[in-house]
Amino acid sequence: MALCKRKGFVFPGSDIYGGFAGTYDWGPLGVLLRQHVVDTWVKAMTWGHDNVFPIDSSIFTAPEVWVASGHVSGFNDPLVICLECHSKLRADHLLETVDVVADEKMSEAQINELFDSVRDKLTCPVCGKKNFGPVVQKNLMATSTLGKLTEEDKDIYLRAETAQGIYINYRNVLDTGMYQIPFGLAQVGKAFRNEISPRQFLFRKREFEQMEMQYFVKPDTASEVYEQWREERMAYYSKLGIKSENLRWKQHDNLVFYAKDAWDIEYNYPFGWSELEGIHHRGDYDLTQHQTHSGVDMTYFDESTKERFIPYVIETSVGVDRSVLAVLADAYDEDEVGGSLRTVLRFHKDIAPYRAAVSPLLKNKPELVEKAKEIYHLLKAEFGNITFDDNGNIGKRYRRQDEIGTPYCITIDFDTLGENPDLLDTVTVRNRDTGEQLRVRISELVNFIK
Ligand code: GAP
Repeated sequence: MALCKRKGFVFPGSDIYGGFAGTYDWGPLGVLLRQHVVDTWVKAMTWGHDNVFPIDSSIFTAPEVWVASGHVSGFNDPLVICLECHSKLRADHLLETVDVVADEKMSEAQINELFDSVRDKLTCPVCGKKNFGPVVQKNLMATSTLGKLTEEDKDIYLRAETAQGIYINYRNVLDTGMYQIPFGLAQVGKAFRNEISPRQFLFRKREFEQMEMQYFVKPDTASEVYEQWREERMAYYSKLGIKSENLRWKQHDNLVFYAKDAWDIEYNYPFGWSELEGIHHRGDYDLTQHQTHSGVDMTYFDESTKERFIPYVIETSVGVDRSVLAVLADAYDEDEVGGSLRTVLRFHKDIAPYRAAVSPLLKNKPELVEKAKEIYHLLKAEFGNITFDDNGNIGKRYRRQDEIGTPYCITIDFDTLGENPDLLDTVTVRNRDTGEQLRVRISELVNFIK
């Protein structure tokens, strides 16, 4: 977290006012990193499949959407307040500290009964005392006054997941006449939840971003398709450079209200194994709910079999913020170079904020600076994410670029200009991970980096 702030990856939200719980702001390097993570997902989902298409729905929707989806009545977390220090805590998380698992579907009365059965063993993680109020089921939907002009107008909901924006557009997409089942719709966008205890940096925020894909299938193929997507989604993480030993599967014991089956891909975060992505078999729950509440026909007519059915949905859902956190945690390393400790982010080359840094060996030699700028512009035109770095001596630049995960440092020296005629028009390319330095022809630099 300290490195993220110091280097401009991620800042606490509203930092100059002491922060604002559950929010973080992306700095210049964070925006690049996050964008590369999003691009990797979009490419894997839409370029990687002939029948998965992008969509982008509104954050604000008719309130009925969230009544139909079940979020208004069922999207709750159990809240308990420490009566000593007034901390607001998740009752289910507190129960986990004494190895008691609360079912997500429990009513308020049931979870209170469970809580009371172990109340004397529970300790407030903030003040260490044992004095809690009753458990209250707290709805996680955030509300807004958008469009509310008089007292009679109602508050509306900000979306708690991007998925609903896909279901409510499923009919529109079908009606274009261009898509046949099976097909998927993929969306990247913000979601909002009144999380009781936002925590662990980017892991649990109140304003966050999801990358969700809903795949509409014939009901009798759903189980097989579900397995295929599970396999594909786990394999995907190598594209982000995440080590396979830091990923594992976890099946949900307690299914959320919409799911027929649900598996999480968990990542081994610095604070332990936790959910990175959810892959859900949602059956026909969502389309049926929207058909009932909107009155719009959600059935699909299969011309080849002459069958009419409501498609089943297989969902893959991952947070951008949690992905970036996993990428950062996986890349973070400390090693010894030249007898001193260095911090290095070993990002996958396609994910690193900058693909390369270009430097003149000395910043006070105009001929070196001019050549370095020429090479910088050449590479920037090709790759975009190239940085120019002429601050401090070359050793310090290497350390600085290692710390932000730049895979290559390119140095222009007097040999580039022909001091050693054999090395005319060549540059030094230093590899972040090995420290190895190669002499590469300028004419071959783009291909070398590619
Ligand atoms: N549409 C299904 C759905 O929203 P979820 O398990 O509640 O399911 C999916 O969320 C993913 O969204 C999670 O696996 C996680 O990556 C991300 N996510 C959920 N809540 C989050 C939060 N408060 N902060 C950051 N990411 C979150």
